[in-house]
Amino acid sequence: MTEFVVNGEAVTVDAAPDTSLLFVLRDHLGLTGTKFGCGATMCGACTVHVDGVPTFACVTPVEMAEGAEVTTIEGLGAALGDGETHKLQRAWVAEQVPQCGYCQSGQIMRAAALLEENPNPTREEIVDTMSANLCRCGTYPRIVRAIERAAKEV
Ligand code: FES
Ligand code: FES
Repeated sequence: MTEFVVNGEAVTVDAAPDTSLLFVLRDHLGLTGTKFGCGATMCGACTVHVDGVPTFACVTPVEMAEGAEVTTIEGLGAALGDGETHKLQRAWVAEQVPQCGYCQSGQIMRAAALLEENPNPTREEIVDTMSANLCRCGTYPRIVRAIERAAKEV
């Protein structure tokens, strides 16, 4: 059994300790907003926050989450936003960022961690941070614009 907090709710999960946090979130807890891409820290589709740190859930054994606070895209607005949505989610809509959408929750989670640490990043800092997350559809320019828009929102 592993006990931790997901999006503000305490959970107890009956999974082998080496089960990836990603599969626990998706298959045990039904939080399917976090995606499986490469399974090898190469794409960022699985990005969640563990104690506020952007983390590749695909390679994180669930035992590492024992006692931690995990935030997924489903809980981002409540955790770091002002209720139902986070300012990044609103900026994502305003800039019409997604194409197929598959990578986008991971992109937003990484961007949210960036703005927590650095509320007014330069374009270079945004590009550097977001290079951990790939988008096969090439939405990179819109991702950068959305982060800049969210950073300007007071
Ligand atoms: S699925 Fe985790 S980094 Fe690609
Ligand atoms: S929107 Fe399709 S992979 Fe990023």
